[in-house]
Amino acid sequence: MTRTVYVNGSFVAEDEACISIFDRGFLFADAVYEVTSVLDGRLIDFAGHMKRLARSLRELSMPAPADEAALLEIHRELVRLNDVVEGLVYLQVSRGAAERDFAWGVDMQPSLVMFTQSKPLIANPLAATGVRVITWPDQRWGRRDIKTVQLLYSSLAKMAAKEQGCGDAWLVEDGLVTEGTSNNAWIVTRDGVLVTRGLSHDILHGITRAAVMRLAGEAQIKVEERPFTVAEAQEAAEAFSTSASAFVMPVVAIDGVELGDGKPGPVARRLREIYVEESRRAAV
Ligand code: PDD
Repeated sequence: MTRTVYVNGSFVAEDEACISIFDRGFLFADAVYEVTSVLDGRLIDFAGHMKRLARSLRELSMPAPADEAALLEIHRELVRLNDVVEGLVYLQVSRGAAERDFAWGVDMQPSLVMFTQSKPLIANPLAATGVRVITWPDQRWGRRDIKTVQLLYSSLAKMAAKEQGCGDAWLVEDGLVTEGTSNNAWIVTRDGVLVTRGLSHDILHGITRAAVMRLAGEAQIKVEERPFTVAEAQEAAEAFSTSASAFVMPVVAIDGVELGDGKPGPVARRLREIYVEESRRAAV
């Protein structure tokens, strides 16, 4: 079955979807994106993703291609047309197509592209084993809070991790962990306190991060928003990452140093359960 995707107002077969080679997303990575997960055929934290999308667009002076209600309808229609029970919806807005020029025209028409990916998210086998990560210098640009499609550096870091038999890289700047290649990084101290870097231009303001922070508070787990070093992470009781595509994902080793017994820890496992349960309940 071919997938149906969405391109600028039309639902079309994926091999018929068409975008100009002059699109600034293609030539300049002048585009922003969102990834929203789907459980039971419903969207997880849709409002949060739309709020962040609006912020990314605003920070880049890019007009919105459609309002939130219209975007919700397109998400739902794509999920329906592709029979997605569990998986992801990818949305990308680019500034649009124009003659190649570093400066953009202020009246450009943005381009909107969306597609689905069906995949098991809850029964992700990595959730049972946990992920081993390497650390890698964070050499991305200084506005990581804007969710742009400039993902080449993150892809290089992920490939370096794979070459070393690991599942991901945690990026490090000035000795402190910023975030994972496509997720936010957390540790659980030996006193049971959750630690994750505070919000700034240095990291993406994860929607899953915000939800886990709220749920941890409700479960009476203390959370500290502050940077941590690689050494502190290696000495922690547990570690995990959060993202829309992997929810709460246990991290069991950092640069070859195993955390605890080298298996997913109880706090990460519990938070994953609570997150999935709450998300399912609030899905739209
Ligand atoms: N990535 N940090 C980075 C650099 C990310 O790319 C992501 C998400 C996150 C977590 O954000 P959220 O909880 O809102 O998904 C943090 C998505 C899933 C991706 O690129 O596929």
